Amino acid sequence: MTRTIRGGRGRLRLAVTLAAVSAVAAGAAVALASGAEAGSTLGASAAEKGRYFGTAVAAGKLSNSQYTGILDREFNMITPENEMKWDATEPTQGQFRYTGADQIVAHAQAHGQRMRGHALLWYQQEPGWAQNMSGSALRSAMMNHVTTVAGHYKGKIYAWDVVNEAFADGNSGGRRDSNLQRTGNDWIEAAFRAARAADPGAKLCYNDYNTDGINAKSTGVYNMVKDFRSRGVPIDCVGFQSHLGGLPPSDYQANLQRFADLGVEVQITELDISGSNQATAYANVVKACLNVSRCAGITTWGIRDSDSWRTGENPLLFDANGNKKAAYTATLNALNGPGSTVSTPPVSSPPPVSSSPGGGTGNGCTATVSVNQWEGGFVATVRVTAGSSAINGWTVTLPVPSGATVTGSWNVTRSGNSWTNVSYNGHVEAGQYTEFGFQATGTASGLNPACSAA
Ligand code: G3I
Repeated sequence: MTRTIRGGRGRLRLAVTLAAVSAVAAGAAVALASGAEAGSTLGASAAEKGRYFGTAVAAGKLSNSQYTGILDREFNMITPENEMKWDATEPTQGQFRYTGADQIVAHAQAHGQRMRGHALLWYQQEPGWAQNMSGSALRSAMMNHVTTVAGHYKGKIYAWDVVNEAFADGNSGGRRDSNLQRTGNDWIEAAFRAARAADPGAKLCYNDYNTDGINAKSTGVYNMVKDFRSRGVPIDCVGFQSHLGGLPPSDYQANLQRFADLGVEVQITELDISGSNQATAYANVVKACLNVSRCAGITTWGIRDSDSWRTGENPLLFDANGNKKAAYTATLNALNGPGSTVSTPPVSSPPPVSSSPGGGTGNGCTATVSVNQWEGGFVATVRVTAGSSAINGWTVTLPVPSGATVTGSWNVTRSGNSWTNVSYNGHVEAGQYTEFGFQATGTASGLNPACSAA
């Protein structure tokens, strides 16, 4: 397979011939990699900025202690490289198999790492039985697949790549032809609605490659996301794979920002970079993410160069012996450099159910809460907005409704009814906001937050 990877300065295109390409609970706190000092590992440094730093993981490598040693030291988000794909999870129609994926989820849960789910629907790695289907039979099988797999992992996935690589390369800006596409142009929104119903707490992403700069393909995706947002189709995030062949495009950050301005979270989902300016390129990607307040985190597509799908290109942060490369140091230094306070939107954007002016004039902040309720539980996202002056810490008073039990929270420390900032989100510039959240069983009624600045 030949894939065109756009990277480098200007419009450098690098043809890569691939000889053989062949969430702890959603909403868990941004975890420091176990035992790490803030600033000394990728995960800890990203967490200092309210972001995650993740990697793709292959279940078959979890028995390799060099591999897991790096994984658990450096990364706090995991994407299964292949184990959650359709051919892996439903090899025979209606018979679901989660062996490899469950191993990875168990590893993540045991090591305080969150999960990105990848990918519910993709025209590649369809099981053979689906490749041979079309029309309404395929549409029905697709939706059953989305519902069943997202339901199996309900509450365990931070974000799902609901649909992967549905847009065509080149200048059309349109959809890629596939048997999925031929079931009708509404297949993507149908998939997002099915995923939302199956796991209301997971962020739902569209994920693609060669969308890293402003170009016809990324503009096609942009127009779809804009349309979905305007019609209430549940989409929360866009993944930019970022398989690069040198420096990211000069408009990389601007491209992330234009998507963020649609109200969605943006994520770098499959980062790997070949070429002699690799270290600088990694640093530039990190800086772009830190400069976009809705950029939630970065995932590299593998750990060591020997783990990469790009055989022979050495595009990752660790060499085949597990040693840190110059690109690692550049990435860590960039993560420890300046960056915006993270501010990512909640899984859906219903109007706030309640708000409070924060206990009156002089307390410096306001808090509002939005709720995503499903049968038996909910996710509450609380937005803390600074007043006319910057604040350096905040506490939100928000009693949990009677009958509700909090099962997880993120970006916050809780003591009873008091929810206080953590180290990286106490400082909020005048008029800006940060967000924390929690997941609970029960019903979200009467949530009425009050905010006071430290
Ligand atoms: O596990 C079998 C092994 O038993 C068998 O002997 C061998 C023979 O070919 O194949 C092995 O499976 C391979 C699998 O990777 C695990 O190594 C598949 O053939 C191979 O197709 C598969 O490639 C994956 C590729 O997606 C599939 O298109 C890569 O690992 C994976 O990194 C890559 O990831 C994709 C993302 O999902 C989407 N974005 C692009 C990215 C790179 O292509």
